[in-house]
Amino acid sequence: MNTDVTQQETAGAPATGWWTEAVIYQIYPRSFADSDGDGMGDLPGITARLGHLAELGVDAVWLSPFYPSPQADAGYDVADYRDVDPLFGRLADADTMIAEAKARGLRVIVDLVPNHTSSAHRWFQAALAAAPGSPERQRYVFRAGQGADGAEPPNDWQSVFGGPAWTRVPDGQWYLHLFDTGQPDLNWDNPEVRTEFLDVLRFWLDRGIDGFRVDVAHGLIKQADLANWREPQEILSGNEADKPRPPMWDQDGVHEIYREWRQLLDSYDGERILVAEAWVEPAERLARYVRPDEMHQAFNFEYLLAAWTAPAQYAVITRSLEATDSVGAPTTWVLSNHDVVRHASRLGLPIGTPKPNGIGVGDPQPDAALGLRRARAATLLMLALPGSAYLYQGEELGLPEHTTLPDEARQDPTWARSGHTERGRDGCRVPIPWEADAPSYGFGPTDASWLPQPPSWAEYALDRQRGVPGSTYELYRTALRLRREHGLARGPLKWLSSGDEVLAFRNGELTVLTNFGPASVPVPAGAELLATSAPLDKDGRVPTDVTVWVRA
Ligand code: NOJ
Repeated sequence: MNTDVTQQETAGAPATGWWTEAVIYQIYPRSFADSDGDGMGDLPGITARLGHLAELGVDAVWLSPFYPSPQADAGYDVADYRDVDPLFGRLADADTMIAEAKARGLRVIVDLVPNHTSSAHRWFQAALAAAPGSPERQRYVFRAGQGADGAEPPNDWQSVFGGPAWTRVPDGQWYLHLFDTGQPDLNWDNPEVRTEFLDVLRFWLDRGIDGFRVDVAHGLIKQADLANWREPQEILSGNEADKPRPPMWDQDGVHEIYREWRQLLDSYDGERILVAEAWVEPAERLARYVRPDEMHQAFNFEYLLAAWTAPAQYAVITRSLEATDSVGAPTTWVLSNHDVVRHASRLGLPIGTPKPNGIGVGDPQPDAALGLRRARAATLLMLALPGSAYLYQGEELGLPEHTTLPDEARQDPTWARSGHTERGRDGCRVPIPWEADAPSYGFGPTDASWLPQPPSWAEYALDRQRGVPGSTYELYRTALRLRREHGLARGPLKWLSSGDEVLAFRNGELTVLTNFGPASVPVPAGAELLATSAPLDKDGRVPTDVTVWVRA
């Protein structure tokens, strides 16, 4: 296990600031709201629906990429970091969206994709036009191949989406892409790349944004010798404790980059933040990304991946809190995003199902009722934990994964690159339902939707849940309001029970209990039941797969 983090090296006073307590809502622009009826969500659509987020009670939004892009990976292939793709609107629409969000008290975080550009980016086009060894090629990772005529890739690395991580260009060189062929990896050892990204950061900071979610933050620096890895590549496994560190992930050199970015952000007014998307384990290794002079937060994917059992949840919660406490950073919590099966479906799969990404037509289907019940219990548990929490659009509606998408509708590059063996992530990206009886359930003014919405989604529409006691939407609103009123984000958390079937803890004046076991358990003693993820049983006890909040 690599744990070169020591208290002396990294511990600081616990961080303060809005972000240490924030609930941040992920907007996936393609699927949030479509203003013009072309079936693709857009920035004016987001602006028009900001009232929903203010009513829900979140503190900030994070938007997945909306930059010009050929959309080879749904916008995570950026052709121009300083503009808006016409699919989503214009730069002025981004300015309006930022201003309107601020007017409603919502902070705005944008996605930054520094590991790779699109192959349509002017730099990559210049690299293709230039000769091997030219300065244009040195912005990317070009190498000669192996074997006779260099016809074999330079090493054995695989793309996260399947197939080799190298593509050959007509003059015989190969370029590295840890993701799709249309996403060439940048060479972060080249100072020009560093200067360019500092400028991109300034561009958006000057437009008033509050921070960046940094895509593949653990991937920018590769081991210098590009040594063979000999292991399969997986998006969900940056680094596991019992394996050597992969040569393409979590290299120590990445931290210098984030220190420089942090200095730039700190030179701006307000509290602008950096959030790492880093699939790094163990938690101590992830904590290095949020040392006091680096990023502010890192997504806690170990928590997202933890099994729905009391011991697994207890272990991941305590490990996460300890790791981030050691560097004075807030812990983050997340259950869903645009890369994994929505937790309302994931938790309806058999416990311990190893890979949460992609359920296909022929795969065993989740138990929808069980999944939603556990998802509500998991969310109520998560929102009582100290730190910052991330929500993914639609989870406040209890939205399930679309698990029966026809193959011809699939757009995730994983589907094609895996030779149609991995279904990919489209099922969690389907446009969300707002109004049960409107075309495209109110996603847009027409029936158009870039991924088909299942007919069962009418019942999840916002207008079927708003003001309805016991609905998932009202549960989220209540939890977010109580979380704020009781300062739950500040903790500290004190365990009362960590057995095999029940978890219970105190946070401020609240007692929180989740029952994972088969038998019902008594409601903790207290003055008042403030929230429950499902009705208590007829004897007033807490049934299986339910979380309650009680004022002590
Ligand atoms: C992580 C993003 O969340 C995912 O959607 C994307 O495919 C990869 N990074 C590559 O940019």
